[in-house]
Amino acid sequence: MWFGVALTILSLIICALGNPLSELHNSDVEIVESKYKFVEKALEISPRFEPTTYRLPNNSIPLNYDLVITTDIDKGLFDFSGVVKIHIRIVNESQEIILHYRQTTIDVINLFTADGTTIIAEALLYVQIPVYEFLVITLPRVYNPNDEVVLEIKYRGEHRADGGGFYRASYVNADLVSVWYATTQFEIDDARHAMPSYDEPGIRAPIQASIKHGRTYTAVSNMDVESITDDGDYVITRFFRTPSIQTYLLAFLVSDFDYVNATNTRIPQKIYARPERIARGYGDFAASVVGPILNGLEQHIGVDYPISKMDHAALNFFNFGAMENIGLITYIEDGLLYDPNTAQASQESRQRSITTLVAHEYVHQWFGNIVSPAWWQYVWLNEGFATLLQYYISDLVYPGMNYMNNFVTAAMPRAFSVDVLSLNSWAMNHYTEEPARLWDKFGGIGYQKSGCVLRMFQEVLTPATFAKGLNYYQNAMYMKAAIPDDLHEGLQRAYDEDYPGNNLNINELMHSWEDRPGYPMITVRLLNNNLVLSQRRYPGSAGEIYSVPITIATKSDPSFGRTTPLVWLHDEVDVFAPGQLNFASDDWIVLNLQQVGYYRVDYDTNLWRAIIRQLKENHSFIHPINRAVLQDEIYLALTDSTLNRVTASDCMDILTYFGKEDEPIAWSKANALITSFNNRLFGTSRYGNFLEFLREITTPHLNAIGYERIDFESSVTTSLRNSIKSWNCLALADPCLSNEYTKFLQFYNTNTSASFDYCHALRNVNGATYEALVNGVARDSSYVTRSNYLNNLGCSLNEEDLKKFLAITLDTTNVLTANERQNILVNTMGRSIIALDTTIQFIDANYAALTTLVSSFSNVLVSLAAFVNSDENVNKLEELISRALDSATFINPSQIRSVYVNNFKWQEDNFEAIDNWFTSLTTTTTTTAPTQPTQPTQPSQPTTPSSATSITLSFGISVACLTLSLSIS
Ligand SMILES: *[C@@H]1O[C@H](CO)[C@@H](O)[C@H](O)[C@H]1NC(C)=O
Ligand SMILES: *[C@@H]1O[C@H](CO)[C@@H](O)[C@H](O)[C@H]1NC(C)=O
Ligand SMILES: *[C@@H]1O[C@H](CO)[C@@H](O)[C@H](O)[C@H]1NC(C)=O
Ligand SMILES: [Zn+2]
Repeated sequence: MWFGVALTILSLIICALGNPLSELHNSDVEIVESKYKFVEKALEISPRFEPTTYRLPNNSIPLNYDLVITTDIDKGLFDFSGVVKIHIRIVNESQEIILHYRQTTIDVINLFTADGTTIIAEALLYVQIPVYEFLVITLPRVYNPNDEVVLEIKYRGEHRADGGGFYRASYVNADLVSVWYATTQFEIDDARHAMPSYDEPGIRAPIQASIKHGRTYTAVSNMDVESITDDGDYVITRFFRTPSIQTYLLAFLVSDFDYVNATNTRIPQKIYARPERIARGYGDFAASVVGPILNGLEQHIGVDYPISKMDHAALNFFNFGAMENIGLITYIEDGLLYDPNTAQASQESRQRSITTLVAHEYVHQWFGNIVSPAWWQYVWLNEGFATLLQYYISDLVYPGMNYMNNFVTAAMPRAFSVDVLSLNSWAMNHYTEEPARLWDKFGGIGYQKSGCVLRMFQEVLTPATFAKGLNYYQNAMYMKAAIPDDLHEGLQRAYDEDYPGNNLNINELMHSWEDRPGYPMITVRLLNNNLVLSQRRYPGSAGEIYSVPITIATKSDPSFGRTTPLVWLHDEVDVFAPGQLNFASDDWIVLNLQQVGYYRVDYDTNLWRAIIRQLKENHSFIHPINRAVLQDEIYLALTDSTLNRVTASDCMDILTYFGKEDEPIAWSKANALITSFNNRLFGTSRYGNFLEFLREITTPHLNAIGYERIDFESSVTTSLRNSIKSWNCLALADPCLSNEYTKFLQFYNTNTSASFDYCHALRNVNGATYEALVNGVARDSSYVTRSNYLNNLGCSLNEEDLKKFLAITLDTTNVLTANERQNILVNTMGRSIIALDTTIQFIDANYAALTTLVSSFSNVLVSLAAFVNSDENVNKLEELISRALDSATFINPSQIRSVYVNNFKWQEDNFEAIDNWFTSLTTTTTTTAPTQPTQPTQPSQPTTPSSATSITLSFGISVACLTLSLSIS
């Protein structure tokens, strides 16, 4: 499963469902009296079944299911009915069979002989236990181990409206008619909504399904169609029997959808979507990708995908990114389709995210489907592999697209951010069984952390041996439920074959990561010519100890490709002599090559300086991924006092080589550092120098690659430009601003579409046009247009223009809401020093009116405090605070003060170092003057403060976020 674009919908649903079960009690059972004559009569419901766990008792297992469901969805009717026959084997002596059900009405349950031909009992007694969603069926007598029977259950349900179970959805067609369809989402535990069943991931059985539906619709399921027969007003589409699968993989789509055939594929594959989308070619890209991805995975794993077809269905209503149902993958529409007539630049990012999403779901055909997790506890055996291999396989199939970089920029940071000491961090193997808690397993730990741990061991074993181990695991557990030890066994076998005598205990090593929460921080110190490595769970000092594979590159031995470990750190501290790891005492040392290890590194200050010297001298000695990771780690070293310290000037120093850094991934990781300096220095005496510095490290790149995308350029170039341009414009480099301005004018004058950043474009808009925009926006009825301008007209660098703009907050005859009035102030104050000064003056002059016109004056002051970095502005802010207190305007002074006190604390700690650094920069280097913007000393500001009032992020940040979200969705 993939959450992707629909994450918010998911959380809404979780909230809505809450834990509906917790309000009920065990005793809350409904006993259904038999209405039918018994062929062989049960005496009573006895012994009474008393559940103590959400897990099904193991007293019987399903051998196969035969299911017929009737739906009238084509008529817009939502009731469905079903008949399921379950061939069951008794495992432990028992008079009861316990199944799951959800939101279904049971009509009757009959019992047949194992061959299904002879009825044993009609209308069996049963009870429903809502808390556990157990349907407890009483057999006419006690059955013994290995006895087999067939249960026939007739039931009714409703196609749900919430996107779970066998649910209903609709779209509006070209004739503006709503067209209904019915489809399924069973993972985690909604298969029981479509049919009473053994609805656990570790219980597998073949399923033969038939759908009875309206004649104009088609039904698609996991398997190919075996037959279509007429049945009056209906047709019955019968599908071939599935292999032995877990219930959550069963899937249906009953719709009027159209399809396009995939190209270059070993088996037939179709892309299903609403007819108009197919006709306009929206599925064509996906149709070209699914074949090569399947092929790549089959080659990599060495086990064939087991079904004779694959369908991919794009659903306009779907709660997740996609779902890997065997033979029928379902996707949120935007996850699979795109309009081929959109601009080429955005096509590439769409293509990348479609490719990785298809790959993710295809990986599950092996990891999840062919081998299932014995329980949800081990769902990382599905999602960890899908997270890793979605990038890995895309990279193998489309070399040169740098898909694995996305693992480092998207998956790894997410893992690190979730896996900290908090309520959301638990071990990969952590056990849970309550339905509401099962969702916990589908988060950063089950996906990204597990992906990182698997990637670490992929490199420990080497990718070739790891792939061989996966092949052993798949073959050994083919169509069975697995636990992690089954995986370890396959990997161990491959490793021992390929590296006899190495004696690595894979099971122990992997358990050291799977059974503990968190990740280690490895501290690196040079002491008496020895390298001292120590570990602790980060952040904090919890006593978790991991078995850490250590990879290392040094000046004497800079082999960044050597990602198999040289040594292991099994203890809290270990000391290594130079001969062991090949370093000299004056070397730079970098640990965790290409960040394949799931850990972070904390270098001592001297080591940091040696690394920075190397980057400045010749950065290409250090691998691009490590150059990127170093930006993360130095930012931590600057901000976290539990680590070895670096100074702010060290951090400025590391940024100086970025004039030559042309790896987008390194730029993207430097964002945090640059953003932090930009915010902290705003309004200080060095802000002008900082922007000049920013122009110096960005302009050379734009001179080389240009300001606009060129057709057919490499994706590296495109992402490099995306990373750099926003900083260059933010630093007010004139060519950058002119370029945005030109595109804006074209849009404004000809009303043709253009892609530009409003803030940067509006910096240069002059008096007359600006005034027209200000007057227009306050009357514009479109919310989107209003917010584009209201959030960005404050980017003007002209004081008189800014005053005119701010004044519209006071005009009560315009259409602006109180929130919008507030946003004008909040989004203007940080755009430049002149905007800050003008906004403060404006608030001061119109104090009384503003306190009643904006939605929260307190939030305005909190936002303002974030930009206050000088004594002068502290005084002005304090004046506003006392006026507010005097006039009993609601404000929160301590909240406001804590924001600027924080700014000053930072300055106290860091400003002197930065001040000296800039001084040394001007005295030691003769820099050529950068292309001067019209007003080079008028700075601007990328981030709005962390207050709930602001709704815009400025360009620098939004570009970085946009790139990230496109690559992970
Ligand atoms: C049924 O068996 C499985 C696998 O051995 C086990 O994990 C589960 O706890 C058992 N269920 C119960 C209710 O004991
Ligand atoms: C079921 O049978 C197995 C083996 O016959 C036995 O080990 C187990 O304890 C039994 N379980 C129950 C719940 O009776
Ligand atoms: C798709 O391929 C199948 C099998 O080759 C063929 O019968 C069918 O007509 C094709 N459909 C479309 C829409 O191209
Ligand atoms: Zn998944």
